[in-house]
Amino acid sequence: MHSRSTFGEVDGDNSIVAIWGNLRPRKTTAKAPARRACSRAVFIASHMTDTAKTRIRLPDRDTGYLDALELRVPINRITLSEISAHFASLRPENRLHGLNYERCAELPFVIDRLRPLFGERLTYLDIGSGGESPLPTYLLRATQWEIHCIDKFDWVRSQETYAARVMGRSASDRFSVQVDDLLTADLPESTFDVITNISVIEHFPGSTDSEAMVRSARLLKPGGTYVLTTLMNDGFFKEHFVQHGVYGEEYRAAPVFYQRHYDVAALEQRLLAPSGLREVERVYFGDYGFQFFERVLQRRLPGPLKALRALYKWATPHFARRFLTYSDRPISRADMSTNTAAGVIVMLTKP
Ligand SMILES: C[S@@+](CC[C@H](N)C(=O)[O-])C[C@H]1O[C@@H](n2cnc3c(N)ncnc32)[C@H](O)[C@@H]1O
Repeated sequence: MHSRSTFGEVDGDNSIVAIWGNLRPRKTTAKAPARRACSRAVFIASHMTDTAKTRIRLPDRDTGYLDALELRVPINRITLSEISAHFASLRPENRLHGLNYERCAELPFVIDRLRPLFGERLTYLDIGSGGESPLPTYLLRATQWEIHCIDKFDWVRSQETYAARVMGRSASDRFSVQVDDLLTADLPESTFDVITNISVIEHFPGSTDSEAMVRSARLLKPGGTYVLTTLMNDGFFKEHFVQHGVYGEEYRAAPVFYQRHYDVAALEQRLLAPSGLREVERVYFGDYGFQFFERVLQRRLPGPLKALRALYKWATPHFARRFLTYSDRPISRADMSTNTAAGVIVMLTKP
């Protein structure tokens, strides 16, 4: 029997024979024997390159099935450094608060997957860019793509300021911003070669997440690339409401919808199936060991101590490199906080 996943390959005698993709283990730790009791091996490969495919054998031949393995793959530190540096260059305050923790997993993965397309002349749409995402202007600088950002709120106008900062006047002819609701926006169908939807879909209330997938998938050209990322807590699908205004929705008496944690079934039923797109690759990410994001970065500090955050917030990418990893298994935790770093990245294409 020979089985494969995003990360690896197992051969007939039950041992891992290959780790796929853009990683090259320089130092590896195979803890299979220690974990035999729970029939799960944790395999940590450190250091990644764009090219290598490496053969590795676990010392314990009994626990080599990918089914029984949890592969934890680290963030590509080179790409993370690039996108962090770009983020820091966009405005002075970014140096103080560091790139958002879960973006430290999402953006390097997405950039590495899109990199083979950098040399082509493509049209690109970023859905829900917000006022902070460094991705549109990173791609503006790294490619010759025509870049279009859409967001419901006018904080997305900051992206124009970043584009001017990055490229000067030359940015304007291939960078545009639209303040509009994706659900009603007049955008031409089958127009974009690449679409990114990064941590946005979980904020669409009711069943509008499915509607958004239908609408946005129509915008993609056949053969195009659609990148979807969202929050994931397998087995614990949940909609979270808050008692304050959020994303333009005012709080009056009723709680306001904030965001949703998907599980694998909901991801497939609510997002992937309605899109009509074909899945090419899926990877999960999060704090698989110590809950750094929830226990440290999201920890409620008493008033006077809040200022202490300034001492470590700038270092978010360094913490992400230490605690945040990818896996072929979703995180599943009954006690997950509303604000979490557990998610999924799905690469899709239009047949
Ligand atoms: C969590 S932020 C993600 C921002 C960005 N993609 C990033 O990577 O940092 C979600 C964004 O989605 C936008 N959004 C929510 N609903 C939307 C809709 N119906 N149409 C367009 N944008 C929407 C919000 O305004 C917000 O800027």
